[in-house]
Amino acid sequence: MQDHHPPLRIIGIVGSLRQGSYTRLAVKIALQGAEEMGAATRLIDLRDYDLPFCNGEHDQVDDFPDALRLKEEVSAAQGVILGSPDYHGSFSGVLKNALDLMGFDEFGGKVMGLVGVSGGALGTVNALNDLRKVGRSLHAWVAPQQAAVPQASKHFDANGRLDDSDYEKRLREVGREVARFAYLLTSKETRAFLELWENAMPNPGGEHR
Ligand SMILES: Cc1cc2nc3c(=O)[nH]c(=O)nc-3n(C[C@H](O)[C@H](O)[C@H](O)COP(=O)(O)O)c2cc1C
Repeated sequence: MQDHHPPLRIIGIVGSLRQGSYTRLAVKIALQGAEEMGAATRLIDLRDYDLPFCNGEHDQVDDFPDALRLKEEVSAAQGVILGSPDYHGSFSGVLKNALDLMGFDEFGGKVMGLVGVSGGALGTVNALNDLRKVGRSLHAWVAPQQAAVPQASKHFDANGRLDDSDYEKRLREVGREVARFAYLLTSKETRAFLELWENAMPNPGGEHR
């Protein structure tokens, strides 16, 4: 990838508070994919943030330094990977609450990638579909590729490595795709191209004969 100024920044948000979370491992692997594309990455572990329950008040977060820190970190990124465990057929409440404390300012126009883990064999299809709808409501560009690790405790070893290279590949590919499209949306070449396009004659070649 060409130089990106400022450097392309992709963050991953872990939607599980569990100490030995498989979601955290899955998000880390996805971020490695983004790093392979040259992006700077950061893992956001919601365990490290003291967040209030969203009460819908506009200025609620002003009294919560960790909520302000989270908003700043998401704002500074060009792409965001959301990771969630499957909780009762959807994504986790802790992730939903974190997203509810933010909005268009943090996510609008950004590329979002989705990864999930589950205890059961069915995987996180519904959880990721639910997250996809939420991403759309936040005006993010949700990447079509997503990755899930079903029966996570069977597939991650004690060192946090996956025994199945297909899962590993898919997780990395989510990160690669988020980086690729974040670059496409924000690079100076794209901005220059859009400026040319916006100033070009209306719909050249598009007239009916
Ligand atoms: C409240 C709760 C609900 C869960 N519901 C489901 C479920 O509906 N389907 C499933 O496959 N696993 C379910 N699980 C299992 C988790 O998806 C699994 O333990 C996963 O590894 C948790 O993510 P973590 O390792 O990142 O904490 C549930 C776990 C919890 C705690």
